[in-house]
Amino acid sequence: MKLIKKLGIIAIGAVLMAGCTPKDATTRSSTESTAAESSATESGKDESKAENTDKDLKKIGVIQLVEHKSLDIIYNSFKDELKNLGYIDGENVKITFQNAQGDMSNITSIVQGFEGDKQDVVVGIATPVAQGAMSLTKSTPVVFSAVTDPIGAGILTDMNAPDKGMTGTSDAVQIDKIMDLALQISPDVKKVGFIYNPGEDNSVTNLGLLENYAKEKNLELETVSISTSADLQTAAATLFEKVDMIFVSNDNTVAEAMPILTSEAIKAKKPIYVGADSMVMDGGLATVGIDYTDLGKETAKMVDEIIKGKSVEEIPVKVFKDDLFIYVNTDTAAALGIEIPESIRTDKKFVEIK
Ligand code: TRP
Repeated sequence: MKLIKKLGIIAIGAVLMAGCTPKDATTRSSTESTAAESSATESGKDESKAENTDKDLKKIGVIQLVEHKSLDIIYNSFKDELKNLGYIDGENVKITFQNAQGDMSNITSIVQGFEGDKQDVVVGIATPVAQGAMSLTKSTPVVFSAVTDPIGAGILTDMNAPDKGMTGTSDAVQIDKIMDLALQISPDVKKVGFIYNPGEDNSVTNLGLLENYAKEKNLELETVSISTSADLQTAAATLFEKVDMIFVSNDNTVAEAMPILTSEAIKAKKPIYVGADSMVMDGGLATVGIDYTDLGKETAKMVDEIIKGKSVEEIPVKVFKDDLFIYVNTDTAAALGIEIPESIRTDKKFVEIK
């Protein structure tokens, strides 16, 4: 993980250097400054628009758990949709983006910063962030994004009338459909390996679903838990020796180091099935799942509704589970010597990723 963290920071640094002077390693671009910097940025930017005082700008604070492909896709489509809805950063809205670098204590301090800085809405991307933002709901409406199991995570008890101060979007993972696809492509599988971070409630929910599936289909299940992505390579190498395939759901800790898991799969010559399109982009063999750009857009629409005066309880959670695609990485298939059946390749929902 050390290496991955460093690469992440270097990548953020490069973006920052192109745009402005970095003050905080977690800040992503010049228009998305930290809470502490915001007044300076705004006054500098708005000189030509005297009518725009700080008070006119609606404030949207965003907390992303960590950098991985899927969360980046979500945040980018969220921002694009806000723009479509007429929110121009620096003109009529101030978007403050914070990356918690996968660290719970960072989430706590970012939440405190947003509390002090009185955001109009706070957006939390991924389950641990939504959980960490619970304390904010007394003062600020919170919209969560891509929380797999909001009830299991304890952030509400009623999906239709969210009752704990936050609503948002959910990416319920289609464990049965993914496993059906896995068994169709790899019919000889008897023993399935599962790697997850038990600190992520989203993964705990998915493991429960996988256990049910395995029982039903008489599959043996072997699980390995990791607490940071630094553990992933060893976990994968040892697990591949014992199982016929590995499945990982949408676990943020795994997603962060997905390319490492891909190379272990190719070394072991055993399939790796995954819980998100982004993980197929990172070399996972296949999944059945949603297009996360839709989820990012919907998150923006909810923020718009709240800014226009709706309350959290009036906005039901939107679960993305219906418009599903079959994502297959055909380079990985070739590297593993796996044939993708014709019936899958010709499916209307088939998306080839190379
Ligand atoms: N659903 C995850 C959560 O609840 C977040 C997430 C979205 C994710 N897309 C992903 C995790 C892709 C791993 C891979 O925290």
